[in-house]
Amino acid sequence: MKKIILTSMALAFLGMTSSAAMASSDINVKKIFSKKCKMCHALDRKKVGPSFKDMNKDEAVLLKTITHGRKMMPKFKKKLSSDEIAAMVSFIQAQQSAK
Ligand code: HEC
Repeated sequence: MKKIILTSMALAFLGMTSSAAMASSDINVKKIFSKKCKMCHALDRKKVGPSFKDMNKDEAVLLKTITHGRKMMPKFKKKLSSDEIAAMVSFIQAQQSAK
């Protein structure tokens, strides 16, 4: 009987930690940046594409460009979830306001 209680407690604990890891607030923006954007963008200097700091200030433009692409900028519609794209937009905006 004691063993059953311990096992179910362990399972409850595992369930808690894995659901926390699934939460959308857990999106790792820095990891997405270094894996999918860094080859063409830097935070504060021009590379293949503009630096995050110098990008358009219009949220809708940022969202649209990441989702559908533009010229050399690839589209990320199928590669990132809409939550991840939204997180990248806030990340860009954070770079723009950091002086
Ligand atoms: C293959 C290179 C490449 C990759 C990878 C890339 N970009 Fe771009 N990106 C560009 C280029 C080039 C432009 C400029 C497009 C133009 O000339 O209109 C651009 C433009 C943009 C713009 C529009 C900026 C503005 O001022 O309108 C945003 C936002 C953006 N990129 C975000 C990202 C994000 C976020 C990632 C990673 C998820 C990413 N890019 C990955 C090349 C890239």
